Amino acid sequence: MGSQSFSALRGFKDLLPGEAEKWDWIESVARETFSAFGFTPIRTPVLETSELFTRSIGATSDIVEKETYSFEDWDGRKVSLRPEGTASVVRAWLEHGLGNGVLRKFYYLGPMFRHERPQAGRLRQFHQIGAEILGEAAPRHDVELLSLLCDFTGRLGIDGLTLEINTLGCPQCRPPYRAALQGYLAEQQADLCEDCLRRSAVNPLRVLDCKKEGCRKAVAGAPCPVDHTCGACGDHFKAVCGGLGDLGLSYHLNSRLVRGLDYYTRTAFEMTSMALGAQSAVAAGGRYDGLVEVLGGPPTPAVGFALGMERLALLMSPDVVPKPAPLLFIIPLGAAAGRVLFPTLFQLRQKNIRCEMGDDAAKLSAQLKRADRLGAAHALIVGDTEMVQNAAILRNMTTKAQQTLSLSTLAEAILPHLTGG
Ligand code: HAM
Repeated sequence: MGSQSFSALRGFKDLLPGEAEKWDWIESVARETFSAFGFTPIRTPVLETSELFTRSIGATSDIVEKETYSFEDWDGRKVSLRPEGTASVVRAWLEHGLGNGVLRKFYYLGPMFRHERPQAGRLRQFHQIGAEILGEAAPRHDVELLSLLCDFTGRLGIDGLTLEINTLGCPQCRPPYRAALQGYLAEQQADLCEDCLRRSAVNPLRVLDCKKEGCRKAVAGAPCPVDHTCGACGDHFKAVCGGLGDLGLSYHLNSRLVRGLDYYTRTAFEMTSMALGAQSAVAAGGRYDGLVEVLGGPPTPAVGFALGMERLALLMSPDVVPKPAPLLFIIPLGAAAGRVLFPTLFQLRQKNIRCEMGDDAAKLSAQLKRADRLGAAHALIVGDTEMVQNAAILRNMTTKAQQTLSLSTLAEAILPHLTGG
């Protein structure tokens, strides 16, 4: 019989009161900021055909090879819980004809799923806030996105962040670079881990990103993408760096920075924090000028990023989250007072006054105790005497000062007293 107890799956986390308010606030600041930068919201499903991710993120990426939650649905179709948001946004943009030659700027918030080894700041269900600009190749838009990223993390009061940027080249300059890198890696085989031996054949850029000590040493002298860019990619990168400088945004050139998703071209970046330990990237993204075509659309340049909400929450000081509005605790003493005060409770809530009401059968002392436990700023007390006098007592829970208000006009009369009056 029902003796089994359940707990959340490993890597899946409940967000309880105390923490969840922080998340609500991050989301509200995100909506405000992203909308100020001209981005409109988009929401896509969490489940997509697996093929969407194999084609976009890359069949040999870690995410697709070993991290997606994929299964056959009841129709025998191979589906995956989305491991990221970019592929879905591009799919939706194509499917609904949102392009039509115009620049579109989207933002999204929501859960993503990757079967990674859980640790601090790394979950299996995690949450991203992402932004994508589709239809513009100009470096100004890379800078626009990066300025949004810096402004948003600033609004959350997070400091100690480093913006690292690199260029990964394009279909013209990537193949010769890839060949040069493969030539270099062929001489380092003895020092590479098993994964990187395989990667050096199928996806050599990823070797630059391996965290294992042996591989890090082995790639120390490897050629970098930035030294092999074609003229156009070089100009683009210079313009991005110049644009960041014009806005006074500091950045660090990291010629070893590569991304775990295969769709990137040209600009790639990460925003990192030393305070996060091994999972140092709080946000990451870049240009993906080839992805729309890979997914069956017309050649369309694009650039985007995603922030990890768990990592933002870890970095944020709890003090920056605004405190909830002061609570008014309504104390009816007896059923008759309860009947009169219940409509008052409703009216005050309609006026956005945060209030709660006690149990009319409970004693004054018990209700005051509950008001204290809830952190109420004021209590409103109505007993038999007040009912007869058509009055209510407003008590300041800190100073214990009390004043009498008229019961019949309570919902209006009380307002100035709650807002510091
Ligand atoms: P990503 O680097 O895979 O890029 O993820 C972006 C951010 O999501 C990371 O920097 C990190 O903060 C967070 N993140 C990733 N995996 C986890 C995890 N297992 N647990 C907690 N947080 C995690 C993308 O997803 C691209 N779609 C970004 C992009 C948008 N590029 C262009 N547009």
